[in-house]
Amino acid sequence: MITPSTLPGGTWTLGDSTVTRFGYGAMQLAGPGVMGPPADRDGALAVLREAVSLGITHIDTSDAYGPRITNELIRQALHPYPSSLFIATKVGATRDAQGGWPVARRPEDLRKQVHENLDSLGVQTLDLVNMRMGDAQSPRPGSITEAFETLVDLQREGLIRHIGVSNVTAEQVVEARGIAPIVCVQNMYNLAHRHDDDLVDQLAADGIAYVPFFPLGGFTPLQSQALSQVASRLEATPMSVALAWLMRRSPNILLIPGTSSTAHLRENTAGAGLSLSDEDVAELDSIGH
Ligand SMILES: NC(=O)c1ccc[n+]([C@@H]2O[C@H](COP(=O)([O-])OP(=O)(O)OC[C@H]3O[C@@H](n4cnc5c(N)ncnc54)[C@H](OP(=O)(O)O)[C@@H]3O)[C@@H](O)[C@H]2O)c1
Repeated sequence: MITPSTLPGGTWTLGDSTVTRFGYGAMQLAGPGVMGPPADRDGALAVLREAVSLGITHIDTSDAYGPRITNELIRQALHPYPSSLFIATKVGATRDAQGGWPVARRPEDLRKQVHENLDSLGVQTLDLVNMRMGDAQSPRPGSITEAFETLVDLQREGLIRHIGVSNVTAEQVVEARGIAPIVCVQNMYNLAHRHDDDLVDQLAADGIAYVPFFPLGGFTPLQSQALSQVASRLEATPMSVALAWLMRRSPNILLIPGTSSTAHLRENTAGAGLSLSDEDVAELDSIGH
């Protein structure tokens, strides 16, 4: 049986909690376009239960997924939560009828979203809330202070244990850290999108986790000749190679690949433990440079 200590990558400490570096991103459990319920509700519940039985202790979610649907699935599948389970959520956007992600970052919006997450997850305190900045495309420059201070207030009120930031520029990370400690940065990063290379290393030096979203390319699966070549040489899938590369890239990287399939979840759990040679890594490094 796989236990947290035998999952690829071992563990990382987020504030006062230890989590498996191999985690699970729950966004893909909602319906198409991350709107509405999944076609296969029992299948979605099975993926969540399988994640926990594989030893995964870090699940990433948001009440905006569905909206509300993903959190309700997590609650139905896993509540009462094992004490080892760490659920990270995020605030800063809502959903509109077209499936868009309008920004909602006024203090009253953020308070409402924190309470919605508490309610849909069925907890009194959220383990981690990421202050999501930018828009659906990318981070955007601009001050994070007002939004971040609202989360700090909610933390003081006991509704949030740990705070992180997401979809942010390096300058916004510095700005946030000048106000209060953060335990992680969650930005888009993978083999082909390496804009945050320096940030990953700076955070590693400071003991702060970097949690790449879209580790497999998100809605557009990673595709590259070099990736396919390395994968076929290792007789592995490109997904496994992409995850193993992230695992090896830096010890502060926590993986949250998304899937709506228990077979893919198992494949990814094993794949992230694939051993890459220096030659493999050099070839893979050429993709994003
Ligand atoms: N902070 C933010 O702004 C932000 C933005 C986006 C996402 N996130 C978080 O990041 C997490 C990860 O991102 P993501 O789920 O969008 O993208 P991802 O992990 O890069 O890729 C997920 C996609 O890969 C497919 N996939 C997974 N394993 C596979 C396998 N072994 N073989 C073939 N296909 C496979 C999934 O399809 P199947 O369902 O068919 O497996 C799904 O379509 C999300 O779940 C969410 O929690 C955060």
